Amino acid sequence: MFDPISPHEKDISDLFIFVLILGGVVFSLVSGLLIYALITGRRRSRQQGLPPQVSGNTKLEFAWTAAPAALLIALFIPTVMVMNSSDPAKPANANAAADVVIIGHQWWWEYQYPKQGVITANELHLPVQPADNSNGLLIHLKSADVQHDFWVPALSRKIDIYPDKDNYLYFKPTTVTPQGQPLVGACAEYCGAQHAWMRINVIVQSQADFDSWIASQKVPQAKTTATNSAQGDPVRGEQVFLNNTCINCHAISGTTANSNIAPNLTHLGSRATLGTGIIENTPPNLKRWITDPNAIKPGLRMPGYSLSQQDLNDLVAYLEEQK
Ligand code: CUA
Repeated sequence: MFDPISPHEKDISDLFIFVLILGGVVFSLVSGLLIYALITGRRRSRQQGLPPQVSGNTKLEFAWTAAPAALLIALFIPTVMVMNSSDPAKPANANAAADVVIIGHQWWWEYQYPKQGVITANELHLPVQPADNSNGLLIHLKSADVQHDFWVPALSRKIDIYPDKDNYLYFKPTTVTPQGQPLVGACAEYCGAQHAWMRINVIVQSQADFDSWIASQKVPQAKTTATNSAQGDPVRGEQVFLNNTCINCHAISGTTANSNIAPNLTHLGSRATLGTGIIENTPPNLKRWITDPNAIKPGLRMPGYSLSQQDLNDLVAYLEEQK
C-alpha cells in the first residue's frame, strides 16, 4: 500500500501516511510530557511531598476536550474525502456495465470478462488505464459460497464479497506490472480451512498485450498435437480428461467440458501457479495435485485421482499444453 499504482489507492495511502504522522506527533507529545513529568515530579516530591491537588480547572478541562475534538475533525474530514475519491459512485446499470466479474469460491478466484466472453481463474489480467479523470474499470464482485474479501493493497480498498449481495468497485491501474511480478493480494475475510491460500495475482498489461491475451483466451479449441514424448500424449490426455469426472466441475473451452464449479482450466498451462498460489505450475506438481490435492491443500473439495501412470502423464501433457 506504500507503492500504489492507482489514483484510488494513492489517496488511501496518502491518508494513511497523514494519520501516521499525526498519530506520531500526538504520541511523541504525550510520551515526552509523561517522561518529563516522571523525572521532574520525582525530584520535586522528594523535596516537597505531594504536589497541590487541583480539580475543576476550566482552562485545562477545556483544553483536553478541545484538542482531541480538533484532532478528530482533522482526521474525519480527509477520511470522508478519501472514502469518496477512492470509491467513486457506480452507475445505475453497474451489473450490465461491469468490465470484470470477480467471483470468490472456496478457495479460488473466478474472473469473468463479460464484454469479451472470457472466463479464467486465479490470474487477473487488467489493461493499464490512462491517467485521465475517468474512474477506470468497473468491477462486479460476488461470492459463490461464503463471505470472502478481495484485497490487493497496491490497487484499491478492501472489499467484502457476499453470496447474496452484489458489490461494485473501480480499478484504475495506471502502471504496467513488470514481467513475472504481478501485484499480489489475498482474501482478507476468514472463509474456511484454506483461507490463507486464496492468493490474488494481478497482471497489468498494456492495452495491446491485454488485447492479445484476450484473443489467446478466446481461441476455443485447445491445441492437441500428439507428441508421444516421454511426457505424455496430449491427444490421449484430452480423452482421459473427458472420460473422468474432471468434467463434472471443470471447463475447457472448445471441449464438451463446461462446468464452472471449479476453476476454468482453459489455458491452465499459461498460469504460474496451481491451487491459487500454493505451488508452482510444473508437470510434476500438477501430477501431485491430480493424485492427491488434499495433501497439498487440506479441505479442498477436489478428490484425488488414482490414474495409471500413462493416463496421468497424458493428462498432464494435455493440461500443460493449454497455453
Ligand atoms: Cu476467501 Cu478468505
